[in-house]
Amino acid sequence: MSSTRHYVISVFVLLPLISILTLLIPLVSGKQERAIGPSYDAPVEVSAGDAVNGEYLFRSKCYGCHVKENPNAILLDTADFKARHADDASIISIVRGGPAPMPAFNSQMLDDQEMADVIAYLRALP
Ligand code: HEC
Repeated sequence: MSSTRHYVISVFVLLPLISILTLLIPLVSGKQERAIGPSYDAPVEVSAGDAVNGEYLFRSKCYGCHVKENPNAILLDTADFKARHADDASIISIVRGGPAPMPAFNSQMLDDQEMADVIAYLRALP
């Protein structure tokens, strides 16, 4: 009889207790879960802009407003534009800032590499 009670105690009390403690170990040991993928402050490498991808991006995100067929469009392929925006930083601050009614493109809408690609496309325009 006594050995049956020991069996019952070990199976129905000790085993669940051990399993619960095992599950709790990672919580109390202070181990941090590892993030999947690069951490947020990992440096993002931006390689030289790819004008071909830039054209694709420009056509899908910018073209509707910056298109010759639109009589009110602000065109980005003019000599005047090139003269005023000789440095990339000036284009980046406009695109990220979004001078109304142009939307501000944050890095989810256009990441740094895509920005470099769009600029490479604009620079490649005749
Ligand atoms: C909803 C329409 C719209 C979209 C979409 C748009 N723009 Fe614009 N953009 C404008 C308007 C309007 C202006 C002029 C704002 C002002 O008056 O300062 C402008 C201005 C600019 C300028 C400054 C032009 C200059 O002559 O100095 C740049 C550069 C530019 N946009 C780039 C882009 C790029 C790159 C994209 C796509 C990622 C884009 N825009 C998408 C409407 C738009």
